[in-house]
Amino acid sequence: MILSMIVAIDQNNGIGKGDDQLAYISADLKRFKALTTGHTILMGRKTFEALPKGALPKRRNVVITRQSGYNAPGADVVNSLDAALALCQNDDKVFVIGGGEIYSTFLPKTDELYLTLIHHAFDEATVFFPKIEPGEWNVEHEEGPFSDEKTQLAYSYQNLRRK
Ligand SMILES: NC(=O)c1ccc[n+]([C@@H]2O[C@H](COP(=O)([O-])OP(=O)(O)OC[C@H]3O[C@@H](n4cnc5c(N)ncnc54)[C@H](OP(=O)(O)O)[C@@H]3O)[C@@H](O)[C@H]2O)c1
Repeated sequence: MILSMIVAIDQNNGIGKGDDQLAYISADLKRFKALTTGHTILMGRKTFEALPKGALPKRRNVVITRQSGYNAPGADVVNSLDAALALCQNDDKVFVIGGGEIYSTFLPKTDELYLTLIHHAFDEATVFFPKIEPGEWNVEHEEGPFSDEKTQLAYSYQNLRRK
């Protein structure tokens, strides 16, 4: 199993404000769908509850919570990092899709990062991605910068693989 993370981060590693995303970049959402479809997505309970239509289709959805008996329609539920890894051990590729608490917990176990770098610092950010130590990662692929017509945000993609 390859453990990957996919995340959109701003210039200060900001990823969210309260329960909401910092920005919705339509091309990035399409890329998220293309990369994760057919694979497993692993998320914290808060990120799951923020999905507007619940579990995402054509993907195995796994939700982490400390609550026992938590019901997540369309998703498998686990209560710890170890339980999540055990449940997914035979899956080819698992994408951790957030949020902040789950990114921090899983980063040390992660093989690959699919970053969307938003070239802006959002003052309103309250949730952050953990520090990415440059010495621990090779840049495998870079694309951009692009400009989002709707939000006027500049962004680029960077795929990192653990050395
Ligand atoms: N920019 C991006 O790409 C991106 C992607 C996703 C999310 N986000 C943002 O991230 C924010 C949400 O992140 P968050 O940190 O507040 O919440 P989260 O990581 O989505 O979920 C946290 C919850 O996960 C459960 N949990 C955490 N660690 C656990 C562990 N070790 N074992 C078992 N359960 C565990 C707990 O659920 P219980 O309370 O039920 O026990 C905890 O309350 C939002 O602002 C969202 O917009 C951004």
